Amino acid sequence: MLNYQTLKKILFKLDPEKAHMLAEFAMRLGNFAPSLLNPIASRCVVIDERLSQELFGVKFLNPVGIAAGFDKNASMIRALCALGFGHIEYGTVTPKPQDGNAKPRLFRHIEEKSLQNAMGFNNDGSAKIAKRAGALYPFVIPLGANIGKNKTTSQENAIDDYIELTKTFSSMCDYLVVNISSPNTPNLRDLQNESFVKELFQACTPLTNRPILLKIAPDMTPKNAISLCSAAIENGAKGIIATNTTVDYSLVQNPKEFGGISGEVLREKSFKLFEVIAKEFFKTTVLISAGGISTPKEAYKRLKTGASLVQIYTSFIYEGPKIANSINKGILELMDKDGFHTIDDVIGADRN
Ligand code: FNR
Repeated sequence: MLNYQTLKKILFKLDPEKAHMLAEFAMRLGNFAPSLLNPIASRCVVIDERLSQELFGVKFLNPVGIAAGFDKNASMIRALCALGFGHIEYGTVTPKPQDGNAKPRLFRHIEEKSLQNAMGFNNDGSAKIAKRAGALYPFVIPLGANIGKNKTTSQENAIDDYIELTKTFSSMCDYLVVNISSPNTPNLRDLQNESFVKELFQACTPLTNRPILLKIAPDMTPKNAISLCSAAIENGAKGIIATNTTVDYSLVQNPKEFGGISGEVLREKSFKLFEVIAKEFFKTTVLISAGGISTPKEAYKRLKTGASLVQIYTSFIYEGPKIANSINKGILELMDKDGFHTIDDVIGADRN
């Protein structure tokens, strides 16, 4: 495999979104000739029973997933699996296709190993994506479907979008994620209130036998995050993903004044909120941690704090295609050091 640090020099000369499209093009080749992926899988997939666990009635071979937004259109599932991710969350999918916000809308903060994006749920829409995901599902690793409302859907009708998407994607994923925490759809985060979340989970939960999770923003106060997650759980949510990107623009040196920031500068903020959530809800519901995870040590810390799974996006861009492999191997080393025999022993070890 071409050394990623060399490839990165080339990719980073391109506009970030063009680089993403190039990577997507390369990964889609795996759909036409899946056997091309075998040598990649044999280098990247870590097969070790100690990393596996059952969640929502399905087996997760390792705890490191690719976060939503990387594979918005469910077009890179095979390649991402070959790169060693333990689960793939595709989307955010909206009912109708949409272009997203005006370009440029994706920026690198290279010194800070961070990204800033204002994509705005650009995606092919539920009909096309359902066809793609449906052709693969059930897949060799668990798939999550991350769902969001169209920009043109009014706040009053937002719930209808989530209802429609729940129905459409139920049979094409192992879990669903309600995204009301993106900063890039106007007023979406206003839906992060108890009454909407209550209504949402009451309406969507009976429509599916798949677990529905709530993904939250890192910018919520601990108090608000706890009441929001409580409302979700009491009304049927089966898990919490913390967190999405932040709108705290003070975290980077030369911010744009729009969009959401991810990567290393988000690490502490995301961890702090995750810790609050874990203290409150560990063992009550399934917890997934995302935000600034780029090393085995950080992933391990999140697991010990109470995450059953971790997800990464930005470190995939900065560290390259072997990131899932290196985090998984590193977790195994840390488990050895601490004398943990299974991932279940690690999860929440700091909560005891
Ligand atoms: C995202 N993220 C995201 N999240 C989501 O729920 N739906 C989405 O469509 C997107 N889109 C998206 C695009 C881009 C370019 C980035 C960088 C991120 C957020 C992502 O899933 C994750 O929660 C955060 O990026 C934090 O994790 P990292 O990137 O710090 O590992």
